[in-house]
Amino acid sequence: MKSYEKRQNQANRMIKRNSIDQVFEIAAVEDVVREFVNLKRRGANLLGLCPFHDEKTPSFTVSPSKGLYKCFGCGKGGNVAGFIMEHEKLSYPEAIRWLAAKYNVILEETEPKEGQVEKSVIDSLYIVNEFARDHFADQLWHTEQGKAIGLSYFKERGFREDIIKKFELGFTLEKWDDLLNAAKTKGFKETYLEQLGLIKRKDERKVFDFFRNRIMFTIHNISGKPIAFAGRILTNDKKAPKYINSPETEIYNKSRVLYGMAQAKNEIRKKDNCFIVEGYTDVISLHQAGIENVVASSGTAFTESQIKLIKRFTENITILFDSDAAGLKAANRSVELILEQNMNVRIVHLPEGDDPDTFIQKKGLSGFEEYVAEHEKDFILFKMDLLSKEATDDPVSKSRMVQDIVQVLSKIAEPIKRNLYIQTAAERLGIRERILVDQTNKLKREAFRKQSFVKKDEVEIIERQAAEVSTSEPQERVFTDRTETLEKYLASLLIEFGDKDYTLDVLVSHFILNSIQKIEIKYSPYKEIVDHFRSENTLYDEIIQNYEKTKEVITSEFFINHENYKIAEFAASILTSPYYLSDNWKNMFEIYITHRTLNYKKDIDNFFSLFQMNYLMKNIEMVQSRMKMQQNLDKTEATEQEITKLTKMHMELLNLKQEVAEKIGMVTVK
Ligand code: UTP
Ligand code: MN
Repeated sequence: MKSYEKRQNQANRMIKRNSIDQVFEIAAVEDVVREFVNLKRRGANLLGLCPFHDEKTPSFTVSPSKGLYKCFGCGKGGNVAGFIMEHEKLSYPEAIRWLAAKYNVILEETEPKEGQVEKSVIDSLYIVNEFARDHFADQLWHTEQGKAIGLSYFKERGFREDIIKKFELGFTLEKWDDLLNAAKTKGFKETYLEQLGLIKRKDERKVFDFFRNRIMFTIHNISGKPIAFAGRILTNDKKAPKYINSPETEIYNKSRVLYGMAQAKNEIRKKDNCFIVEGYTDVISLHQAGIENVVASSGTAFTESQIKLIKRFTENITILFDSDAAGLKAANRSVELILEQNMNVRIVHLPEGDDPDTFIQKKGLSGFEEYVAEHEKDFILFKMDLLSKEATDDPVSKSRMVQDIVQVLSKIAEPIKRNLYIQTAAERLGIRERILVDQTNKLKREAFRKQSFVKKDEVEIIERQAAEVSTSEPQERVFTDRTETLEKYLASLLIEFGDKDYTLDVLVSHFILNSIQKIEIKYSPYKEIVDHFRSENTLYDEIIQNYEKTKEVITSEFFINHENYKIAEFAASILTSPYYLSDNWKNMFEIYITHRTLNYKKDIDNFFSLFQMNYLMKNIEMVQSRMKMQQNLDKTEATEQEITKLTKMHMELLNLKQEVAEKIGMVTVK
C-alpha cells in the first residue's frame, strides 16, 4: 500500500487507548522538540528559540521531567502530542501516528466506522500532495517517457538513484490530464487538487494538470512532508519559464520554507553551520557529494523568517554565491538579515562561470572543501576588500565606500562584535576609528528613530533646535545614579506581586525576570531576593507548575520568614506598607508621579519606564560633561562641530526622557 493510501485509510480508523498510552510512555518531549528546535540545557530544563513566534532571545522551555513544553513569550504550551499538533498542524490522531512512527510503536486500531470521519482540510491537503509526489515518482521510474526523458536527464546531470529517491524527484508526462485522472480514480476531490495548484481551471467544466512535461522537485516542510512542487522545463524554450512552482497554500508559505531543510537539519546542527545556495539543483548536488548542511530559498531573496528558521539549528551561515553581479547583490541582502539576527556569516565566492552544482560535480568533495577553506571569508572582511579595491584615491568614491561599510557595521546587533569590526575596518581602510563609530551610531540612531520614538518632522525640529541651542550655555546638573532605588523597587514588586498573574499563564515574577534578563543586580539584599526567583529550579518549574495549575510558587511568606534578617525585614516593610516607596518618588529622577495606581500591572510597566529613565539620565549626564569639556578647549572648527553634535544628542536624549516621563504620567521638574 502506498503511504497516502495508508494515511487515507488510517484517517477512518480509531487508535485504541492502550496504544495511545504506549506512545506517551515512550515519547520524550525533549526528543521530539529537538527535531525542530535547537535546545540548550538550562538547569533541569531545556531552553531554545520558540518555533511558534519570532523571538531573538530564547523563552521556549522544555521540561523533560514533566513532559511539557512552554513558551514564556507567546504562551503556547502543552505535552508532546500537543507540540506535534501545533507544529505540524496535525489532528490529534495524526500526531499520535507521527509519534508512533518515530518510536516504532505499532498501533492497534479499531475498524473504520462508516461516515464517522471528519478529516481536517489540512490533513487532506497533505494526503493529496503525498499522492501527487508518489505519482510523479511513478511517472519518472515506471513510464517509458519518464525513463527516457526525465530519468536520463537526471543521470546526465550526474544525480545518483539514491539521491533522486531521497529528494523525491519526479516527472510529469506531456499530457493534460494525467494527474487529474489518476487522482479521480483514487477518489480525491478536485477542489483539493485545485487548492494545491496541481490542476488549473479553465472554466466551469474544464480543468487540466498544471505541471506537464517537466522534471519535478518536491518541496518539503521541516519534517519532510510534501507541501509544494517545482517543475523544471527540459527544453530550451525561451518563452516558457524554466521553473513553475506551486502557489502558496494553507500548508505552503514560501517565505517561511527552505528547500532541503528536512534533509539538512540534523547535519546543520551537527556541523553547527549552514550553507545557503540559490538553486534546487545546488542543494541536491552538494548533498550527493556529502555536504548535507545546505538549503536554498525558492528562487527569491532570503527572508527574515527563513534566517530565523536556520537560527533554530545554528548561528553560523556560509553563503555560496555565483560570481555574477546578481549573486553578489542577493548575498548582500541576505547578509544584512543575518547580521540583524546576531548570527555569524561567511561568504564563498565561486569561480567565474560556476554555481555550486557545477563546481562540486567538477571538483568533488575534497576539491570543494579545499576551495571553501581557502576562499571562505568573513563577510565584513570580504566586503571591505571588495570596496577597498574599488575605491581609488578619489574622495567621492572613498566616501561612498565608507558609507557602504558603515551600513553593514550598523546592522551588527552585538556591541562587542560591532566594535571589533569597527577596529578592523579602521585599520584596513585607513580611516579613523572615531569616524566609523560616529557614522555607525548615526545610522543606528536613525534606524531606531524610524522604528519608534520620534517621527520624521520631529527629527527636523530637533535638528533646528539643536542648531539654535548650540551657542547657549549647557546648565550644570548633578545626576545621581538611581540604580539602588530601582533595585529596591524591583525587589519589592517581586515580593509583593511575584506570585500573581501577569497574563493568563505568565506570573509577574516570570515576566519581570524575563524582562530584566541577565542584568546584574548589585545591592544587597535585593540581589539575594532576585536570585531566589532566578534560581533555575524555581523560575522555570514554577511556570510549568503554574501551567498545570498546581501553583506552587514563592510567596511573600517565604521572604518574611527568611533566615537572612535583612531580607525578612525588607519583606516585612514592603508588605506592611506597600506604598512606602512612594515618598521617594519626588526625589527620584527629579520627577514625581502625579497619580499612583493600585493596579500592579501598571506599576510594573512604570518600573520599566523608570529603568529606561535611569539609563537616559546616565547618558544625559555623560553628554553634558563632554560638552563642558569641549567648551573648555580652544575654539576650532573641530570643537565647534563636536559641540554641535553633542548638543544635538543632548536634545534627543531630553526628548526621549520627556516621552518616557509622559508615558507614565510624570511631570518633569526642571
Ligand atoms: P537557476 O536558474 O540557477 O536554477 O535558478 P538551478 O536550480 O540552478 O537549475 P539548473 O541547474 O539550471 O537546472 C535558481 C533558483 O531560482 C528559482 C529556482 O528555485 C531555482 O532553483 N527559479 C529560477 C524559479 O523559481 N523560476 C525560474 O524560472 C528560475
Ligand atoms: Mn544550476
